[in-house]
Amino acid sequence: MNEVLALLLLSLCCGLSTGLGDNRDSEGYLGTGASLAVCLPDTCALFRELAAMKERLGTMDQTQAALKESFGAMGQKLGAVETKLQGSESQVEELKKVNTAQEEELKALKKSLSTAQPKVAFSAALRDSGGGHIGPFTTNTPLQYKRVFSNTGSSYNPATGIFTAMVRGMYCFRYSMYSNNSGRPNSVVSLMKNSEMLVTTWNTDDSMNVHESASNAAVVQLEVGDGVYIQLWANRVLYDDRNNYNTFTGFLLFTV
Ligand SMILES: *[C@@H]1O[C@H](CO)[C@@H](O)[C@H](O)[C@H]1NC(C)=O
Repeated sequence: MNEVLALLLLSLCCGLSTGLGDNRDSEGYLGTGASLAVCLPDTCALFRELAAMKERLGTMDQTQAALKESFGAMGQKLGAVETKLQGSESQVEELKKVNTAQEEELKALKKSLSTAQPKVAFSAALRDSGGGHIGPFTTNTPLQYKRVFSNTGSSYNPATGIFTAMVRGMYCFRYSMYSNNSGRPNSVVSLMKNSEMLVTTWNTDDSMNVHESASNAAVVQLEVGDGVYIQLWANRVLYDDRNNYNTFTGFLLFTV
């Protein structure tokens, strides 16, 4: 652009030098002192406009430089923001990992809480050896189920035949009764809670039916110390051998 301007100035000055004498009004001069030039009024106006344009271009250059600078600053800021964002992203990843670990811990805790429930279950049969009749006795007698299949929690005592609750809860109990031989007294037994009779089974043998089984069950709430057992009624009899016809079973359903 500056070169073009210089060329223009040169050609106009040279072209004008012949017309100096004819046109000397103030609009026909350009510059001052040694750089004073003479030109046609229109040409001078054109020069002035060109000078103004040059000035504007200079200003624009300055603006452009300022913009470039501020763009650079913005670029730097953006870079900083990007770095921060990357930092935040990795923090989020870390937090996710922590969260997953905590979830696992919670699951384990829940599991251990559910397994912290006391375990109570037992099952036993009347005879641990031999075979034959049990009874008759002159009074109501708790039956001692000697052959213990399981006794988790040790709440059942085979020496007494009594299950003693060690935790307050809802329990399920079941028993079976077997009688054999019509010439003897009937078989009658009851499921007892302390001195309270809960349920009973009865069998009367006759000449047609000498081998008979019966069973009963109950779900009851027990307080700590409550005793549950099977009672053979006075003057009644049972039969058992290695087949284990007579069983007593109980387990904790849930604590209350
Ligand atoms: C019934 O009792 C008799 C003994 O009195 C015994 O020999 C027999 O095996 C018993 N029967 C059954 C099915 O238990």
